[in-house]
Amino acid sequence: MFSGKLLLIHLISFWLSIASLVAAFGDSKPGCQAKCGNVSIPYPFGITVGGDDDNRGAGGCSIQGVGYGYNVNCNTSYDPPKAFIGTGNLEILSISGTEIRIKSLVATLCYDMSGDLVPDGQNHQIVTSNLKPTPFTFSNTKNRLFTIGCNSAGALLGWDQLGKNYSSQCISMCSSKEDVREGSCNGNGCCQNTIPKGIKNFSVGLVWIANTTILSFNPCSYTFLADREQYTFYASDLQADSKVREIPQVLDWAIGSRTCTRKTAKVASIQSPVLLIAVKYLKFLKYMTIELMV
Ligand SMILES: *[C@@H]1O[C@H](CO)[C@@H](O)[C@H](O)[C@H]1NC(C)=O
Ligand SMILES: *[C@@H]1O[C@H](CO)[C@@H](O)[C@H](O)[C@H]1NC(C)=O
Ligand SMILES: *[C@@H]1O[C@H](CO)[C@@H](O)[C@H](O)[C@H]1NC(C)=O
Ligand SMILES: *[C@@H]1O[C@H](CO)[C@@H](O)[C@H](O)[C@H]1NC(C)=O
Ligand SMILES: *[C@@H]1O[C@H](CO)[C@@H](O)[C@H](O)[C@H]1NC(C)=O
Repeated sequence: MFSGKLLLIHLISFWLSIASLVAAFGDSKPGCQAKCGNVSIPYPFGITVGGDDDNRGAGGCSIQGVGYGYNVNCNTSYDPPKAFIGTGNLEILSISGTEIRIKSLVATLCYDMSGDLVPDGQNHQIVTSNLKPTPFTFSNTKNRLFTIGCNSAGALLGWDQLGKNYSSQCISMCSSKEDVREGSCNGNGCCQNTIPKGIKNFSVGLVWIANTTILSFNPCSYTFLADREQYTFYASDLQADSKVREIPQVLDWAIGSRTCTRKTAKVASIQSPVLLIAVKYLKFLKYMTIELMV
């Protein structure tokens, strides 16, 4: 009886603290480090050395008991220091009342005119990202899968909390610079597609069928998941020094939304041989991969 009451009191104070948290979002707890470099770290997030999930919740600075991921690793070996989720390599760019913006990894292929991969360390045909240890998901309302390039196909294979897989694809076709419309991501030089709701981890893969005509104005192709509000396509993005790497990705972090109803997403049928190849690559070609995780 007593312990039941105690539990009830705990539950009430837990919900009260969440309620006050929603009301007063934006500040760090008193006595806690408020910023990491340029990034504000508001409660329920808190900075702990190395991002470790200590059982005090970053010495009382972050929330406890609602899942891993609220501890931030503020790494001061960078100037300005960089903030990472937990002990992983997902870099936080900003935190708002319901969303975290993180640095996106971009699947990239760059060829020289003889058709050889440019050896600059930027080429990654497959990029994977993992939020599974956290209560966060990749936002399906804010993010889009983008593919940039002529005759290029990008595919995202994502998994939800229950390990069920979903896919999203994007094909971009063009044969000359003139096919491309500035500011318009409609399948000519740039393609965008939505992603399913509730994705916890994913692979994004890129397949590109380029020839010398295309390479003369489009030496690099890219595919990535990013904030649709922060990306506008320009023909200059077909270049090697593209700014596409600067577009953040959005995570939903709101507490208490762990179980969300989910419509059964239709897995798009594979309509083109290019995509068939893309899907095969995702499955079988594990070289040149790079991984983000918490
Ligand atoms: C980030 O911080 C550095 C120095 O701490 C400053 O020079 C720079 O302008 C800041 N950038 C932003 C985007 O606030
Ligand atoms: C900070 O970043 C450096 C360079 O990437 C890395 O070697 C180091 O382990 C990081 N420190 C922590 C505490 O994560
Ligand atoms: C994502 O997680 C699921 C299980 O939830 C696993 O089967 C799958 O291999 C993972 N994908 C990647 C790319 O790590
Ligand atoms: C996706 O799930 C289906 C079953 O729903 C399974 O047959 C298929 O192999 C899975 N694909 C991958 C790449 O895991
Ligand atoms: C390269 O591909 C484009 C688009 O498919 C095509 O129009 C062009 O003729 C091709 N050029 C060469 C040299 O094969």
